[in-house]
Amino acid sequence: MPPLFLEAGDRMMLVCKTCRNTYKTSEPRWRCECGSLLDLDFQPRFDIAKIEARMPSMWRYRDAIPIDDDASIVSFNEGFTPIKEVEIAGIPVLFKLDHLFPSGSFKDRGASVLVSKIKELGIRRVVEDSSGNAGSAVAGYCAMAGIDCDIFVPDNTSESKCHQVTGYGARLTCVPGTREDTAATALEAATHTYYASHTWNPWFFHGTKTFAFEVCEQLGWESPGTLVAPVGNGTLLLGAYIGFIELMNAGIIDRIPKLVAVQAAACAPLALGTGANFSATIAEGIAVAQPVRGQEIIDAVRDSEGFFVTVSEDEILRSLKEMVSQGFYIEPTSAVVCAAISQLAGKTDLQPPVVSLFTGHGLKAAGKIVKLLAGG
Ligand SMILES: Cc1ncc(COP(=O)(O)O)c(C=O)c1O
Ligand SMILES: [Zn+2]
Repeated sequence: MPPLFLEAGDRMMLVCKTCRNTYKTSEPRWRCECGSLLDLDFQPRFDIAKIEARMPSMWRYRDAIPIDDDASIVSFNEGFTPIKEVEIAGIPVLFKLDHLFPSGSFKDRGASVLVSKIKELGIRRVVEDSSGNAGSAVAGYCAMAGIDCDIFVPDNTSESKCHQVTGYGARLTCVPGTREDTAATALEAATHTYYASHTWNPWFFHGTKTFAFEVCEQLGWESPGTLVAPVGNGTLLLGAYIGFIELMNAGIIDRIPKLVAVQAAACAPLALGTGANFSATIAEGIAVAQPVRGQEIIDAVRDSEGFFVTVSEDEILRSLKEMVSQGFYIEPTSAVVCAAISQLAGKTDLQPPVVSLFTGHGLKAAGKIVKLLAGG
């Protein structure tokens, strides 16, 4: 099929990562005909006075979010999460409290934009797979939009995330085996139904990029020196990278932060190589042995002059206990960034200001947390 080209006035198109074929964004397409990943080529606009006059939500960056029609927007007026300084092993770290999103995780950033696009395309039914949080976020936004939704999760997913998915009215399928087995089952379902995938679908990343916009605005339109982020499929890290690059291209910031990507040592395909042996981890949100956009994550970390860190189960547990004892009721997965910062303290200079985030609310994994805190 010959490539399609942007028409005058269009600000965006889908581009294949491998064969460079392009598609109009009015097509309901989540991957290229060649089977490869698509990216969104998009020209964002930033008018600082306009942004600052809008309500404090992630949609204040409306002109930098690739949705054509305001009527398509599916939103709880979420985002612009608070930023709170917490000292970790003597290092002052600015944490975005992204566990405070409506569905309880940062995935709402991506779900809001993705489901808005799905509504705009007139799609009435979707499938999605996840370790639990992206699935519950997509199910929640589909509930608001009245879109029929099937969610696939691994069968060891925290109970509350499963209850949340069914509570929103989505159909839930728990798949035995690994996270990759769940993804394969969803991919099969996606041959018949639109795939609202947070890993494949480029619109998701144009939601998570608002993390970078908010951080820079909250720092007085400056970039942080370092961003420490957990990485499973890299939706936060890659989204943030896109956002920082867009701000730099627009001349609003003059550097991007070094990206410090944190993986659980028990499952660290990007830090240790896909050939390493993997075991279970309490950081269920990043137990991803074959991240779909793995090379893209490696390239982003390298371009930012950042690096990967792995943290042990003991380190994650110690950090979880520390954070919960200070009143931050976060998921075990969210504690990996604190474990990484503690590990690096005194060994590696992290360029200030150091920014990180709490990715998921502890109430999502309360059953697991109570056992972990009791030492079981
Ligand atoms: C609580 C939490 N933190 C971090 C992540 C990592 O996000 P990603 O897989 O997009 O890197 C996830 C993913 O599900 C998560 O649920
Ligand atoms: Zn292609």
